[in-house]
Amino acid sequence: MREDTGQVHARPPWAVIAAVGITVSSAVLFLLGMAIELAGGGRATTIGWPVVWSVAMAFFAAMSWHGRQWGRTVLAVQAGLTWLLSAELIFTQPSIVDSVTRPGLVVGITLAAAIAQTLGAATAFTPPCAAYFRRAREQARLLSPRLRKAVLTVHVVGSIAWLGIITLQSALAAVARTVGNDVALLRSLYEAQYIVDNLFLGKTSFVALFSGLALALGTPWRLTHHRWVVAKFALTVTVMILPIVVYHPVLDRGYALVLEGRTADDVSSALGFWGLLPALGVSSLMLLVAAVLSMYKPGGRTRLGRGQATATAHTPGSSKPGTPAVVSEIHEAAADVVSLSLKHPGGDALPEWSPGAHVDLLLPSGLVRQYSLHGNPDDRGSYQISVLRQPDGRGGSVEAHRLTPGDLVKVSRPRSHFDLVAAPGYLFIAGGIGITPILPMVRRTVADNADWRLLYVGRGTRRMAFVDELCALDLDRVVVVTTDNGQSRPDFVRELGDLPTGWVVYCCGPPQLVADVEAAMARERPDGRLFTERFVATTRVRGEDTPFQVELRRSGKLLDVAADRSLLDVVRATVPRIDFSCENGLCGSCLLPVLDGVPDHRDEVLNAGERHRTDVIYPCVSWSRTPRLTLDI
Ligand code: FES
Repeated sequence: MREDTGQVHARPPWAVIAAVGITVSSAVLFLLGMAIELAGGGRATTIGWPVVWSVAMAFFAAMSWHGRQWGRTVLAVQAGLTWLLSAELIFTQPSIVDSVTRPGLVVGITLAAAIAQTLGAATAFTPPCAAYFRRAREQARLLSPRLRKAVLTVHVVGSIAWLGIITLQSALAAVARTVGNDVALLRSLYEAQYIVDNLFLGKTSFVALFSGLALALGTPWRLTHHRWVVAKFALTVTVMILPIVVYHPVLDRGYALVLEGRTADDVSSALGFWGLLPALGVSSLMLLVAAVLSMYKPGGRTRLGRGQATATAHTPGSSKPGTPAVVSEIHEAAADVVSLSLKHPGGDALPEWSPGAHVDLLLPSGLVRQYSLHGNPDDRGSYQISVLRQPDGRGGSVEAHRLTPGDLVKVSRPRSHFDLVAAPGYLFIAGGIGITPILPMVRRTVADNADWRLLYVGRGTRRMAFVDELCALDLDRVVVVTTDNGQSRPDFVRELGDLPTGWVVYCCGPPQLVADVEAAMARERPDGRLFTERFVATTRVRGEDTPFQVELRRSGKLLDVAADRSLLDVVRATVPRIDFSCENGLCGSCLLPVLDGVPDHRDEVLNAGERHRTDVIYPCVSWSRTPRLTLDI
């Protein structure tokens, strides 16, 4: 198993703090307006809006604070809509259910809130904020799975409520056509439509719109990358506009006639045969189409989405973890370690693998991480991986710990550069979560009746996964060394000095443990076979290397590799379709064939005995010892 290190969470710059502060002040102003309205005898129809509006503002401001690009976008859209609402407050008379005249103070406060929100949204687009959001975007900080689920729930509930309200309005309008000369009932039906309209229609539509925007902008779907998302957004906006331009004028005209004491037939003939029903019917139909689009997601990518897909096809792992998988089971394997079972959503068999293999896991946020498979290779129905939670890492392990059964992820085909070779015996050495690739190797060795021994080092059995299972395999062959109770690290020099002839050593764990084993092996068994896998990359500093040239033999290109760039970046600029994933020298996916020159291997894939190879290079981290390196691409 590999994981990530490196603290990346940064305090937002002053401009983001200012943008969020101004926006929150705007929300407070709206609430103040509500309080004054309430004190002056205002009614629920007008009081509800500032509450919904303020909560939405605060939410989007909080999302902006956390670097969500979509947060500031929605904030800007909301600022525009705030002006529309303010204009309505100023230029319209109180409606029939809102009989209290608004005090000038409320209008003033509403205007001040609109100005403040516009300022806040504008500040969020200044260069310092843009840089902050760009950084956050690079770190793929999209909606967390838990938040995505919460927003999705709000969106589904809001959309259903919206459709239900339009259906109710349709029913009221249809009944109003049938009441004949019962003027009192006709008036009640029209007033009921006004009440439903004022209390619910606008609010549910805004809930559906904003939660939909948050889902589109806060997930890899994006707003403009898929045709179905664009179509659904257009339908939603159209259904929001229809009441303003069609439904409300007809309703107002009809109600004016009702107040004059006209009968249902008079009103119907004045409004035309269909009256209110066409706008409501079309709205219902559009919302149903939007629901179907959400379910079936037809149409593929837009041109922009295709361009983006091409541009990101070679970002870490973006093109490789292509098999959808559903999290079917989760259990705690040790303190801070969860084991996940992944299955194909349709129950299909997953690609085969052998002990030592790993997969790229594409998390819902778009992060890609590598994890060793440790289940049963003969079980093609599921993969098992285990994840150590690293709160100071780059976010992959924390997000993986947030997954719940039923969550969808993607996995790549299993890869391996840590295969179990045939040998008369094996010494396995594992440190911490490095036990994950070792576990299926031990099982396979037991099944093959081969000789073996395991040294398992950790900070305490509470934090060490699979100890019981390993001890149950053969207690005499497993040595568990826990450093938290005073036990010292195993003496690798002695262990390897005592190694029976022909035995092979497999080691996976933190870099220091692997380095100790490599040093002991070089001293005691220089001709022995040692296979290693580190689960974090060793630290590298760019910019201190000597620049060199890379010749791409098949493309006939000669390129300069500057000290502050990776060979992978330089080659990809000319040959974009190069496979890669971790960019840390861990996964082995970026392997390129070398024709001439001497590579300086800095990856964690090649073993000590393979570091002299001049026929391959892992360009994400490795360099050249010669002024020119010729690659067979
Ligand atoms: S991209 Fe993973 S080793 Fe190069």
